[in-house]
Amino acid sequence: MSTPTLLILPGDGIGPEVMAEVRKVIDWYGARRGLAFDVTEDLVGGCAYDKHGVPLTDETMAKAQEVDAVLLGAVGGPKYDNLDFSVKPERGLLRLRKEMDLFANLRPAQCFDALADFSSLKRDVVAGLDIMIVRELTSGIYFGEPRGIFQEGNERVGINTQRYTESEIERVARSAFELARKRNNKVCSMEKANVMESGILWREVVQKVHDEEYPDVELSHMYADAGAMQLCRWPKQFDVIVTDNLFGDLLSDAAAMLTGSLGMLPSASLGAPMENGRPKALYEPVHGSAPDIAGQGKANPIACILSFAMALRYSFDQGAEADRLEAAVEKVLADGVRTADLLGEEGVTPVSTSEMGDAIVAALDASL
Ligand code: IPM
Ligand code: MG
Repeated sequence: MSTPTLLILPGDGIGPEVMAEVRKVIDWYGARRGLAFDVTEDLVGGCAYDKHGVPLTDETMAKAQEVDAVLLGAVGGPKYDNLDFSVKPERGLLRLRKEMDLFANLRPAQCFDALADFSSLKRDVVAGLDIMIVRELTSGIYFGEPRGIFQEGNERVGINTQRYTESEIERVARSAFELARKRNNKVCSMEKANVMESGILWREVVQKVHDEEYPDVELSHMYADAGAMQLCRWPKQFDVIVTDNLFGDLLSDAAAMLTGSLGMLPSASLGAPMENGRPKALYEPVHGSAPDIAGQGKANPIACILSFAMALRYSFDQGAEADRLEAAVEKVLADGVRTADLLGEEGVTPVSTSEMGDAIVAALDASL
């Protein structure tokens, strides 16, 4: 088989510095495991706007469509806050998601034992937590029409539209059920069927996909607000949560915080299989561009490194190598290596972004 291709889009803020650490890990796999990747790098977000006047050029979009997987750092920053909506850094990311049709966004929330005390919740509520939020990513209120700010009489009205077709719900439901079968076989679907028609349809379609194709998986339904409450009360009751674009955005941030640090969480956004059988895929950390600490070597590269682990698992069929990388991260944390976002214990000095990357590569070496 030909060498797998990766498009790396470091983006803005801490994106480039955390991605530099991922490059070390990618190089390690090439040198030590015979897993070479054909890597190209390009711009997305504010840096693309600075150079080209748009947050994502057509050329970069075309490259993203061709490669086996895209790895993205983060986009945005205060410098771009006053740009026109159509060229804001986030539009670059949303264009990638939409045009690659990455409808299933996998956001694991896993609590590393060494970090259970960093959570704002009690240790026994979060220790051992391992849940997966599957967020629909290409439809719903993020993309529905009509949308805009319109004049209505003597005032303006802001409009966004929540819209889901049956097939959009079906395909993301299937992704959730498939994942559940490889985990603890439980799916909880979240919507607001009590107030939204799109929620009524969502619940109906998820139930139908379940009954017809996945009767072996345990399915429950919850209103999304109650789901938010249950996530904070006793998150270990969940295995896979499937929900729409906006609720998934909120619930995944909440779930992320349960684990102690947003700097730890990866994500995968998957679409339909390509000709070579691999899904269209983009991998990115859940955290943002953190402009306040950018360029200072303080950022935690773990979320981005774990995003590459997800790429190994979901794009490249290298589950065992993904396990190896996740174990290396776990080992480094258990050894007490901490970036500045993970401080709290007495007498621990933080390591820099690149020292954390080096420690993970050393743990990979030690795993051989
Ligand atoms: C996320 C982010 C994005 C979203 C932004 C940056 C557009 O919050 O990936 O969760 O709202 O989807
Ligand atoms: Mg978000």
